[in-house]
Amino acid sequence: MNDRRRQWLDAIAAAADEASLHEVESRLFGKKGEVLELVRAVATLPKEERPAAGKAANLCKQEVEQALAAKKDELQQQALQKELHDPSFDPTEPGPRPRRGSLHPITIVQNELIDLFTSMGFCWQDGPEVESEYFNFDALNIPGDHPARESQDTFWLNDRNLLRTHTSPVQVRTMQRFTRQGFQPPLKIIVPGRCFRAETVDKTHEHTFYQMEGLVVDEGVSTANLIHTMKTCLRVILQREVKVRLRPGFFPFVEPGFELDVNCPFCQGKGCSVCKQSGWIEILPCGMVHPNVLRQGGLDPEEYTGFAFGMGLQRVVMLRYGIDDIRTFMGGDLRFLRQFPEIAR
Ligand code: DAH
Repeated sequence: MNDRRRQWLDAIAAAADEASLHEVESRLFGKKGEVLELVRAVATLPKEERPAAGKAANLCKQEVEQALAAKKDELQQQALQKELHDPSFDPTEPGPRPRRGSLHPITIVQNELIDLFTSMGFCWQDGPEVESEYFNFDALNIPGDHPARESQDTFWLNDRNLLRTHTSPVQVRTMQRFTRQGFQPPLKIIVPGRCFRAETVDKTHEHTFYQMEGLVVDEGVSTANLIHTMKTCLRVILQREVKVRLRPGFFPFVEPGFELDVNCPFCQGKGCSVCKQSGWIEILPCGMVHPNVLRQGGLDPEEYTGFAFGMGLQRVVMLRYGIDDIRTFMGGDLRFLRQFPEIAR
């Protein structure tokens, strides 16, 4: 046994690199490894010889194992030192740069809109996603029996609360708080936020979506102010000059109410599949605030007028980036998100 032990230890000592040491290791400790065979062979000896032989075999095995581990360490150290002293290795070179991630496109556009509107003197307001029936409907001139309720498929909760179907309830919430605190117009707010409707999801519909509401109340506010503000907003967001047109649109909380269309940014109004050959894209419902809504907010409609708008953020983002399926926003596919600019360092 001693001879073989010597041989094994010599083989380990002679290994010049990790690959050859690995070869030695398989020969000694692999499936039919010589060291393991030695230990197993003890069982074939006459009974009285076994205890002593077993002990010796185990000691030998331990010794060889230790030598192997020590040699492994030594070779690894050697390899590392060699690498460090390789003249082509530059330890000061920066490693691969990890990606920092990017903002969600809805967040990108929402932030731009907040920057734009706050620069025009608007104040950023927030409101609850779980809303009361009163603020979501009644205060906006939509009483219980009004057919307009039907058009907003609502997630009702117990106790007549609901998941807000739009950001418009924050109009009256803000006006009430504003007048209760003794303020008088001008009042200019934007309300970005998440809304919910019990809708079947398809290419253009989501049950959870983002809107940005705007409200301006002052003496002598007119449709001209509305159009100018909307044009400015669309020019910044779509990053090009835009033409707009107004069509009548019905929303109980505005009178008159409008659908504001923008000339199609994909075909410059010539007609394409995105605008269904019409040259226009419906983008912004808006209007002059209904007197009943001003009254709900504690303001006198004889004294003040206002305009309001409610922008579907996903729609604006889809137009801006040429995205054709609303489901990609919440689809959880990182390949989609990685297309947007990485967050700056
Ligand atoms: N809240 C409306 C909706 O979600 C959109 C809207 C229309 C908001 C006209 C407004 C407005 O402020 O004036 O369908």
